[in-house]
Amino acid sequence: KNILFASSECVPFIKTGGLADVVGSLPKYFDKKEYDVRVVLPKYTCMNQKWKDMLEYESHFYMDIAGVDQYVGILKCVYDKITFYFIDNEFYFGGFAPYDGDPKWNIEKFAFFSKAVLSILPVIGFRPDLIHCHDWQTGLIPVYLDNFRYLGEYYRGIKSVMTIHNLKFQGVWDTKTVRQITGLPEYYFAPDKMEAYKDANLLKGGIVYADKVTTVSQTYAEEIKTPFYGEALDGLMRARANDLCGIVNGLDYEEYCPFSDTRIARKFTVETFRKNKPFNKAALQEELGLEKDNKVMLIGMVSRLTDQKGFDLIDYVMDELCQDAVQIVVLGTGDAKYENMFRHFAWKYSGKVSANIFYSEELSHKIYASCDAFLMPSLFEPCGLSQLMSLRYGTIPIVRETGGLKDTVEPYNEFEKTGTGFSFSNYNAQEMLNTVRYAERIYYDKKRDWNKIVERAMNMDFSWKNSARQYNDLYKSLIGE
Ligand code: ADP
Ligand code: GLC
Repeated sequence: KNILFASSECVPFIKTGGLADVVGSLPKYFDKKEYDVRVVLPKYTCMNQKWKDMLEYESHFYMDIAGVDQYVGILKCVYDKITFYFIDNEFYFGGFAPYDGDPKWNIEKFAFFSKAVLSILPVIGFRPDLIHCHDWQTGLIPVYLDNFRYLGEYYRGIKSVMTIHNLKFQGVWDTKTVRQITGLPEYYFAPDKMEAYKDANLLKGGIVYADKVTTVSQTYAEEIKTPFYGEALDGLMRARANDLCGIVNGLDYEEYCPFSDTRIARKFTVETFRKNKPFNKAALQEELGLEKDNKVMLIGMVSRLTDQKGFDLIDYVMDELCQDAVQIVVLGTGDAKYENMFRHFAWKYSGKVSANIFYSEELSHKIYASCDAFLMPSLFEPCGLSQLMSLRYGTIPIVRETGGLKDTVEPYNEFEKTGTGFSFSNYNAQEMLNTVRYAERIYYDKKRDWNKIVERAMNMDFSWKNSARQYNDLYKSLIGE
């Protein structure tokens, strides 16, 4: 059976967040005898030249979008035994970043992409039995698929799955414009279809028309049925509850692997972390100009710097936290207010706080491998991959109990000697600080217990093995063996 993943980003070609990690790794974990899983992506001009050089021209044609005949180029490559198709159009994908431009431009960009994904199928000679769509950028695919059934027999019976990686982003613009861009009949722009609160909503379209809807953790699948997490679509999520399920993300265990990672100073395993992990800490302190002190508790953060990730909590208590015996290292980009906040604290507490306001795969690995703890106090978190990376490298996550963080980090219980991290429940800065301080106490006063937490963390299995099987079962329920 044939499966096609459609996504706006994918490792190693282009990445802005966890979506790219998921789409870049999950396809590798299906049994190739059962499923031929291929991936289709936009060919962004901003992709690294190295990847662009790998692509081979397949063919091209023209397709109507927004009333204009637009060029649709198809390029192809095989990487890590997976076939990737790239849709080429410099008008839409020529920017400096995947999502640059205003919201309307992005709607048009991904309407083009979604329609092109379906239009290339007869040309590439790969008819998927199922299209697996990811996030709002591909929300129009199930809608077009519904419409294409009228337009061509070829598309009849192709199933679709819509995976929500982040309900916050929905692709919303006024109905009239979206009608004009997509060319879809008026019929689709009603409150029980693509319309939400008078506007057209691309993700809503995907959720309404996909055969199954998934999200990236069980807790988030429950949360989005409530007003607090539902982003004004909680009613729809409740309405589709029977077709909605949560499947927690896995991690590419080959890419994030403490015993084979070439980016880190000293490799280690669950047997050797006591001896070898400190070398990484020393190297990172040296590299970032932190005080050289192997005893101090080093807390890391690698993240998009947005409200979602709980940085306002950190803002409230950072001065207090910096009175403690801790060092803090941040790697991230995003909202200017948080970028400047961390720059400020790095200046105020120089030698103790390191702010790295840029994107670096290499530094991220070093942080996951070198820190003692990893702080992730998210307001909401559909799944979160950073805490999984931390667990893998024996860096103990300190998280808020929400979404995937709740499902993947078991809170430490000092009486039962269980747990792989520390967590707090309310979105409250003082509660977060108390939890960090509790972790500090274990780290400094009960090192043996701390090391046991590290062992349990490193022994957890968040590879794709289990989750890929769940997707496998989901596909099977739609398209059979
Ligand atoms: P989200 O997708 O919401 O951003 P995830 O935890 O699922 O959150 O995934 C984030 C991914 O992006 C992780 O692989 C993380 O290491 C990476 N990442 C975030 N910011 C940076 C950065 N500045 N440099 C390198 N990697 C980053
Ligand atoms: C989104 C979510 C994150 C999740 C990622 C991959 O970006 O914010 O929690 O891990 O998608 O599914």
